[in-house]
Amino acid sequence: MPQFSLSSGEIEAVQTAILGMQKEDMADALKVKVAGARGAIQAGRRIVKDFNCQGCHILEDKGGQIREAMTANKIDLALAPPIIRGEGAKVQSDWLFAFLNAPRSGQIRPWLKARMPTFTFNSDQLNGLTSYFAALDKARYPFENRIEALDQRSRAAGAKTFEALKCAQCHPTSQDAFALALRGGKTPADLAPILAAAHSRLRYEWIADWIKRPEEWMPGTRMPTNFPKLDDGPGKPEKRISPLAPALDTPAFAGLKKDLVGIWGSEAEAKAYIGDPDRVTKALRDHVWSLGNDFLTAPQAPKKRAAAVVAAH
Ligand code: HEC
Ligand code: HEC
Repeated sequence: MPQFSLSSGEIEAVQTAILGMQKEDMADALKVKVAGARGAIQAGRRIVKDFNCQGCHILEDKGGQIREAMTANKIDLALAPPIIRGEGAKVQSDWLFAFLNAPRSGQIRPWLKARMPTFTFNSDQLNGLTSYFAALDKARYPFENRIEALDQRSRAAGAKTFEALKCAQCHPTSQDAFALALRGGKTPADLAPILAAAHSRLRYEWIADWIKRPEEWMPGTRMPTNFPKLDDGPGKPEKRISPLAPALDTPAFAGLKKDLVGIWGSEAEAKAYIGDPDRVTKALRDHVWSLGNDFLTAPQAPKKRAAAVVAAH
């Protein structure tokens, strides 16, 4: 566990936030303010400047000079360090802490040419950066949801939907799969983060939200928008649609339909699932979460418990 240095006032604000967060509501969950966020952002920006993180990364929409050097040397920009956006909302604070401390321990894109350097940060700097990223996104900090069990039907439906949407065309699902993909003719430009360690790296709620609206999290991302917005006119609440719903009756998706009917028990239930972008994105999330996480795929009572734990000490 990271050593989060919170004042008692900050701990109280965090605890109040937990108490106000009973249901799994993405919009609310991401909007909880961390006390002292402005100070955390200022302190983080100082570290980012001192260590020239923006020489490699586009961060807060600035920097990434390495890209100019790569372009000048005709190196494919698909090999550039990742653009960092929404990081605080995306990753678990303790993953981020451990990664910044020892970047080699957590490679997510092993095909990149530039490597994240190992800075010898002290724990104040590691805490400073971790809370900086959380504060930028108004993300819950420093506690995480502990997911101890998955709804097995949702996970199984997610696995079938993952296949139908060909997610693995870009995402290796294990550390070995990317080498295989490269040997099979893919280039780094075709590849996306390895999903095997998603459960120890990403925030559970974030994954479903990202799959639902990647173009809002990271404008210009190669991750496809599988659930486009329905343009319902100004002032209407945002609504997204699931293009798989009308496709389910076509011959190309007969296999998926059969699998989903098997999982949900009837055609009506299968259609109710596939037509609901929230259910489908959560099911995909549950499948992603189970990758490399075998105990979660074992049959068990379909209960899901998301216990918030304060990790401050
Ligand atoms: C020499 C280039 C370089 C510098 C300088 C650099 N990084 Fe990185 N960083 C990388 C690369 C390459 C990756 C991708 C690692 C991977 O995906 O396996 C990365 C990944 C990251 C990630 C994880 C992104 C994700 O996908 O979740 C974070 C956070 C990060 N860097 C923060 C920083 C911070 C903060 C600094 C400054 C203290 C910094 N980096 C400096 C190259 C760099
Ligand atoms: C055309 C390639 C492509 C396809 C297909 C694709 N993705 Fe992605 N995905 C990406 C890229 C690229 C990123 C990294 C975000 C970025 O840097 O823009 C990403 C990021 C992610 C992440 C975050 C991973 C991390 O560790 O940071 C998850 C989770 C994810 N995608 C799930 C999915 C799922 C589920 C599907 C299928 C419905 C899917 N993706 C299909 C390209 C793709």
